[in-house]
Amino acid sequence: MKLGIYGAGSLGRELYDVALRINENEYKWDEIFFIDDVRQEKDYYFCRVIKMEEAKECGDAIEAVVGLGTPKHRRCMAETLKANHIRLTNIIDPTAIVSPTAQIGAGVIVMPYSRVSSDVVVEENALIQSYIYVAHDVRLGANSVLSANVSIGGNVHIENECYVGMGAIIRERLSVHSHSIVGMGSIVLKNIDENSVVVGNPARVIRKNDSGDVFKR
Ligand SMILES: CC(C)(COP(=O)(O)OP(=O)(O)OC[C@H]1O[C@@H](n2cnc3c(N)ncnc32)[C@H](O)[C@@H]1OP(=O)(O)O)[C@@H](O)C(=O)NCCC(=O)NCCS
Repeated sequence: MKLGIYGAGSLGRELYDVALRINENEYKWDEIFFIDDVRQEKDYYFCRVIKMEEAKECGDAIEAVVGLGTPKHRRCMAETLKANHIRLTNIIDPTAIVSPTAQIGAGVIVMPYSRVSSDVVVEENALIQSYIYVAHDVRLGANSVLSANVSIGGNVHIENECYVGMGAIIRERLSVHSHSIVGMGSIVLKNIDENSVVVGNPARVIRKNDSGDVFKR
């Protein structure tokens, strides 16, 4: 089996490192490469870069993860992989602790030292970065992203395409409705409406999330 990391960029490099560690623990992939239609170089960060046209020729011998960390891009890229009949797989770092009762969707990524607790549901293509605590019974929606050092209390529901910035904390039993952004370091004490950007302690709305962009260029 081959692993394609779709997106040769900063998250792609981090995923490559984790994929190497997974392979050292338990051999899974004969080759790891990047799939990227924008980057012109043939090599990037120790491996090949191929175009989507070439990747799809691998048929059943390839599986892939999305290597971008913005929810809207994660969704678009997962759709492109599916349109090209490339299966989404999981990348779960060997140091992550994922409960056997957690349900992990296709394409989900769990980075080093994160903990996914009992009866958590992580929907398709969500990204859980490093050093994160996801408490019991949390539901994390499709394509949502938890940035490093986030803590999510029990029974929280984070809907689709949300972004939770570094170090944010979300109190138990709350809902973060779809397409919202929680700013880094925020303390969330109330439900968050869809398409909202919230920051601070306690977290308050500063604007609507009209663009879906998280990072300034
Ligand atoms: C929430 C976020 C998306 C807002 O970005 P933005 O819309 O570009 O906001 P700005 O930087 O223009 O700031 C707007 C206001 O909110 C404040 N603000 C922005 N982010 C804040 C935060 N996390 N906590 C407290 N206040 C914040 C700014 O100080 C500014 O206040 P002012 O109007 O009084 O000067 C961004 O700050 C953020 O937290 N991004 C996530 C970063 C992250 O986790 N990166 C991980 C990379 S690996």
